[in-house]
Amino acid sequence: MHNITLVKGDGIGPEISDAVLKIIETAGVKINWDIQTAGADVIAQEGVPLPERVLESVKRNKIALKSPVTTPIGKGFRSVNVQLRKELDLFSNLRPCYNLPNVKTRYDNVDIVVVRENTEDLYAGIERQIDENTAESIKRITRSASERIAKFAFDYAVKNNRKFVTVVTKANICKLSDGLFLDSARKVAQNYDIPLKEILVDNCCMQLVQNPNQFDVLLLPNLYGDIVSDLCAGLIGGLGVAQGANIGTDYAVFEPVHGSAPDIAGQNKANPTAMLMSAIEMLNYIGENDAAARIKSALFRTLEDNIKTADLGGNASCSGFTDAIISRLV
Ligand code: NAI
Repeated sequence: MHNITLVKGDGIGPEISDAVLKIIETAGVKINWDIQTAGADVIAQEGVPLPERVLESVKRNKIALKSPVTTPIGKGFRSVNVQLRKELDLFSNLRPCYNLPNVKTRYDNVDIVVVRENTEDLYAGIERQIDENTAESIKRITRSASERIAKFAFDYAVKNNRKFVTVVTKANICKLSDGLFLDSARKVAQNYDIPLKEILVDNCCMQLVQNPNQFDVLLLPNLYGDIVSDLCAGLIGGLGVAQGANIGTDYAVFEPVHGSAPDIAGQNKANPTAMLMSAIEMLNYIGENDAAARIKSALFRTLEDNIKTADLGGNASCSGFTDAIISRLV
């Protein structure tokens, strides 16, 4: 029996969480879920969007599966997602991006792994209003955080037989901050046989759209990593299929790349694939490799049988798609 925290999130979070729980349960994995709530809805009762109980639960269980939590735009409380990653020191955000069967995309054979630094950069939330017409945000980059994420990217590359790592910065403009990130990657690379390539983020976006097959592992600071991973999601069929994991030294939180999708929340339209793919990686992480393989195979066969949600051009509902996966589980 595994003890795992589930942060159900809001928006489409509850629908896709329920779908994934049902699939994992049917696959026969014994998990004692510690279900936690966070976000705007808990503020009324508990005063904060990320209560201490959520952090304590993940610290106790070490592993969490999380669905998205809405962050108010341009005002309101700080992102629960960013706070969780920072508080638990989940320094690496790992987002493997590859084509799924029968999901039509512009390019075939996309196989990119985005490694995003998860704790600093503009996401440290150091902002101030100078006066009514001026505001500033501090972009903070440290050598220790840059070196450890570079090391994570290279270790991942070695372990997974990847050919090279490309560090993505804007070090021609942000000479000190991005310059430090780049310099750290160059230093770390000296300890590995895998080559390090370098590219500026604007050119990287253009190259990704024109020829994604030229990339392998991408190593990015927090902000570029956030943006480029959505771009990469677009290359493989959209946010509905893009998986992710936040991994630190002590804890790991698995969650899809996408947000809470308020435009389709509560309508049984959400694609649970991104959350399911994140959960499959979580199962591999805890050693449930057989169940992970069986669930992945059932998911792939569902897509091959042309059962898809609306974001992929199909007409299956979230629950219909889930049941189709379950009926293919062996
Ligand atoms: P979003 O990822 O929620 O949605 C962007 C578009 O993709 C929407 O049209 C949505 O319907 C579609 N989409 C996303 N996931 C889908 C799925 N599983 N199935 C089908 N369609 C899907 O991004 P948006 O609208 O910018 O953000 C909404 C909220 O989510 C914001 O409050 C944002 O801060 C939050 N957010 C939370 C994240 C997290 O919890 N890790 C990550 C990203 C955003």
